[in-house]
Amino acid sequence: EETGKSGYDHFMLKEIHEQPRSLRQCLRERVSELGGTVDLDVDVAPDGVQFVACGTSYHAAFCGVSLFHEAGIPAQAFLASEYATSPPPVDGDLVVGVTQSGETADTLNALREAERRGAETLAVTNVVGSTVSRECDQTLYIRAGPEIGVAATKTFSSQVLALALLVLSQTGASRQDVAALRDLPGNVQQVLDESNAEEIAQAYHGSDAYFFIGRGLHYPVSLEGALKFKEISYEHAEGFAAGELKHGPLALVTENTPVFAAVTGDGELARKTIGNVKEVEARGAPVVVVTDGRNDAARYADHVLEVPTSDERTAAILANVQLQLVAYHAADLLDRSIDKPRNLAKSVTVE
Ligand code: G6P
Repeated sequence: EETGKSGYDHFMLKEIHEQPRSLRQCLRERVSELGGTVDLDVDVAPDGVQFVACGTSYHAAFCGVSLFHEAGIPAQAFLASEYATSPPPVDGDLVVGVTQSGETADTLNALREAERRGAETLAVTNVVGSTVSRECDQTLYIRAGPEIGVAATKTFSSQVLALALLVLSQTGASRQDVAALRDLPGNVQQVLDESNAEEIAQAYHGSDAYFFIGRGLHYPVSLEGALKFKEISYEHAEGFAAGELKHGPLALVTENTPVFAAVTGDGELARKTIGNVKEVEARGAPVVVVTDGRNDAARYADHVLEVPTSDERTAAILANVQLQLVAYHAADLLDRSIDKPRNLAKSVTVE
């Protein structure tokens, strides 16, 4: 097993570092630089999309909702275990199961339910020949390569990228889209090379709880940042929509609860998230912002995790890589069983 780690202390860290390569694999021969087309070998033209997924894959699906919505295609994401009591798909809806392993019982059952309801199904998975790929009408592979660490890292990034490609396969890709995709693996490499996440994990070691906030795509990124943190550090971590803080969670915020805020770009969402950052700062909470420097969020922060300037879609992936590193180093400081956290399994084949 040691040799499989290629010199890294844990598979999780190795897999975090594999992301530039796995993202390149996901893109390979799918994007035409000249024609502005994205060809994924799947034949779909949905009027609407319903995602079903669990855990980290649900967070990727949640990113997919924003990506489809931006492109004018209505989309919803459901926790697979709640799908039986969710609104049924309507005519023209594509039901997309997002699952790394392709074997998660909750997700497989939700897709079977969708088929019973007459919907067309698409699997977005990492594992060739997995049950989901055999049962769904069509499959889009994320091509991330094997993931051993129980906590999903590179597969989340590749799922989000694959869903972004799925959107572009419907709408066509502008020159700017193609450039953003082309730059993504290099930008992730830059984050990996320059990240100060270890220093931040050290600075906040021993805190009461860890909160993650964001808006738009940074909302699911915040949920994922918190999930990663709790899975492997066993510390209390929660992700919130930044605007929801004032409706309850703010009561938990103290000088002993660092708040991580993902704020990229210079638009309305960034402006509003900065407002929320000021709210927690006023309550004495330490603030860490993940930012591309296109806004003044850093002015209100105790620490900054930088990401290169990019398109907002790819910024979500970059911000998440920083949060993966924070979770990893926090868990490592606590000497946790990072690759095999207690009570968790890589793939859960029971409901
Ligand atoms: C388990 C794993 C999670 C994963 C979830 C969904 O709970 O511990 O890391 O996100 O299953 O797995 P899937 O293979 O369907 O993506």
